[in-house]
Amino acid sequence: MSVLITGGAGYIGAHVVRLLRDRGDDVVVVDDLSGGDATRLGDTPLVEFDLVAVDAVDRLREVVERHAVTSIIHFAARKQVGESVAHPEWYFRDNIGSLANVVEASAAAGVTRLVYSSSAAVYGLPGGAAVTEDDATVPINPYGESKLVGEWLVRDAANAHGLRSVSLRYFNVAGAGWNDLGDPNVQNLVTIAIDRTARGLAPVVFGDSFDTPDGTGVRDYVHVMDLAEAHLAALDALATAEGPADAVVYNVGTGRGASVREVLAGLAAASGTDLEPIIDPPRPGDPPSVVADASRIAAELGWRSTRTLDDMVDSAWRAHEWRARTSA
Ligand SMILES: NC(=O)c1ccc[n+]([C@@H]2O[C@H](COP(=O)([O-])OP(=O)(O)OC[C@H]3O[C@@H](n4cnc5c(N)ncnc54)[C@H](O)[C@@H]3O)[C@@H](O)[C@H]2O)c1
Repeated sequence: MSVLITGGAGYIGAHVVRLLRDRGDDVVVVDDLSGGDATRLGDTPLVEFDLVAVDAVDRLREVVERHAVTSIIHFAARKQVGESVAHPEWYFRDNIGSLANVVEASAAAGVTRLVYSSSAAVYGLPGGAAVTEDDATVPINPYGESKLVGEWLVRDAANAHGLRSVSLRYFNVAGAGWNDLGDPNVQNLVTIAIDRTARGLAPVVFGDSFDTPDGTGVRDYVHVMDLAEAHLAALDALATAEGPADAVVYNVGTGRGASVREVLAGLAAASGTDLEPIIDPPRPGDPPSVVADASRIAAELGWRSTRTLDDMVDSAWRAHEWRARTSA
């Protein structure tokens, strides 16, 4: 019995692989290494292919049979919002196509448990209150659209194929559980601010007159280790689920907002470099505050975040410094 993890050589997937291996689960990873790094996997078996290739369903079936796979966590996806606006066809083909192949192979091979990486991007621009899973899903870019269509696909596969799925809508993920698993992509506030700080450049704040306590944007930052643990909770719930197949959706956030200035203060403390930020105008469409209501996953799976914003920023900074030292 093993867990198949697509995209397991990526940032979040590699954390889940390591946690599962540490508790003694058998794991096999499928990844084309387009954005991943095989060195994160240690001796975990890796089968390298593109999940949207014409023979992907057959190759997935082979992996399922050879490794006696009983559940799948599907991380593999493109994830850059700007790129998705420039190339929506890549996001619809790759993000939905890869999931469709995973669903088809699961149905053919009799795998009925799937954890799917969704995103808070499915909500688009939510209003001020904490966002619940029942709020409207109105994504504002092709990335968010592709994630939402993925949720619909796994829901439809419950009726069609008896698939049981948990879609996890991640809020803002950052941090590192181990130095070698830090996020090398410079794409979000934490990684961009770390990259600039390390180069002696002042961080940039987009807007400081929002209707928030300190005027800067507020988001829900979840430590990647907390997020990884949410996947284990989802997997364990699927393993013991009874009754008809279904598709459930959970927010994965802390339920607490942190402002840009709070994140930057954490980074100044972690790095020992306190640079006065540059204030730029707000970016079009940036909402003042987006915070998860994470009560459903707490009530139903018993998962809640345990790490602080400082734990998260500090671990991200340490992983960055470790990478700079070891790649020098
Ligand atoms: N990082 C975040 O802040 C965040 C937030 C919300 C949702 N997500 C979702 O979480 C998942 C994992 O994100 P991540 O940050 O670890 O990304 P990542 O880019 O680090 O990892 C993705 C992995 O999938 C692999 N992959 C991509 N396309 C593939 C394909 N066609 N075939 C085989 N392998 C393929 C890549 O090589 C990479 O190893 C994604 O689905 C992403 O949309 C991430």
